[in-house]
Amino acid sequence: MADDYTTNTLSGWILESTTFFYQSNPRIAFIMSMGIAFLYYYLTSVAKKPEFYCKPGKFRQVLETMVPILNEKFYPTPWCFGTHSQTALSNFIRGLLPNIKYQRDLLETPDGGVLALDWLPSDLPQDAPIAFFMAGLTGHSQTEYIKSIIPSAAKHGCRVAVLNNRGRGGVDLKTPRTYCAVSHDDMDLALTHIKNRYPNSMIVACGISLGGVILGQYLCRSRENALCDAAILVSSVFNISEAVYSMELPGLNRLLNRHLAHTLWLTVEPHKDKFKEFQEKCDLEEVKKSTTIKEFDERFTSKMFGFQSVDHYYDEAKLINKIHNIKVPTLCFCAADDMFQPHNALPLQIPEENENLAFLVTARGGHIGFMEGVLPFPPFFSERLYEQYLLAMIHSIRDGVFKKIL
Ligand SMILES: *[C@@H]1O[C@H](CO)[C@@H](O)[C@H](O)[C@H]1NC(C)=O
Repeated sequence: MADDYTTNTLSGWILESTTFFYQSNPRIAFIMSMGIAFLYYYLTSVAKKPEFYCKPGKFRQVLETMVPILNEKFYPTPWCFGTHSQTALSNFIRGLLPNIKYQRDLLETPDGGVLALDWLPSDLPQDAPIAFFMAGLTGHSQTEYIKSIIPSAAKHGCRVAVLNNRGRGGVDLKTPRTYCAVSHDDMDLALTHIKNRYPNSMIVACGISLGGVILGQYLCRSRENALCDAAILVSSVFNISEAVYSMELPGLNRLLNRHLAHTLWLTVEPHKDKFKEFQEKCDLEEVKKSTTIKEFDERFTSKMFGFQSVDHYYDEAKLINKIHNIKVPTLCFCAADDMFQPHNALPLQIPEENENLAFLVTARGGHIGFMEGVLPFPPFFSERLYEQYLLAMIHSIRDGVFKKIL
């Protein structure tokens, strides 16, 4: 009778058949339970809706109605969602995209340097919106994440322009000055050039990583005179001291740091002879030996730009201290697990004070990763967000929700 009772209830039946299955196929049962545990973990702790911070107002309303991805869960690639693996693999996959053909404008700076503005060839009307891009630390117009984000702007009738820093992207270095986190003069020059050439076009600017820091510096300094109508900063660091500290943590961060320090040296090496007159101020042999970004900045960047020390440079470069000055709609997008910027270093209280700023923070994604889906291929989450944001800004600026910069 007792047996009949247990097998007649559903839970009794499940229990009995599971026990039977487990006893007859212990290995498969083990794999299955691991799979279920993983799935549970993935669905509860990895795939999440991004955190969104924005003060109630026009900007928030536009974002909430026209950027639906805000309310989507971000599903990082289930077999590759760690911060370093997202960063590395997304970079590799984006790198598989073919190089882009540009038309290049060379811009001379007042101090004798040269920048290159790369345009995607097009026969768009004179007043087509302009999507402006700036890459990160050692980047240029053929950098992996630039190649993957540009199609999102080009396919919606935007004229695309990418700024290459001095000495990057095949640009010659004419003077012993490269660029740093506070080189917003060069960005100012590029945007002025664009505005003169296309006075009736709106400009939506996108800065990625260090490009976003420079764009942020430009926006903070130019306030209501900024020449772009809206902006987005992707994986940009707001407190450089915090980033440098985080990158010096032992393990993969330290390893990546070493790699970046070497890459930074490689950006200087081809222009070595330009720094001859600099020799007593900065010893290039020492610069070459840098094993961290901080060492490189201490021995090279801060000296080249005349800062008293590397800490002085980092203090000047902190967006966190000036971001309240931004006057055009600006979305800051990053991942909570970005190794350059721990979640607690994000100035998430700022959107409460400045209604032009919004923060969107995904739980995973690493540094410019945001790879999604089981078989990841761009557009990734970041590219899709960019596309929706760009369209939202273009339409709301056209409709007069935000003032168009003249
Ligand atoms: C930036 O980070 C440094 C190092 O962690 C910290 O001491 C400083 O208070 C931070 N600055 C701000 C404005 O949060």
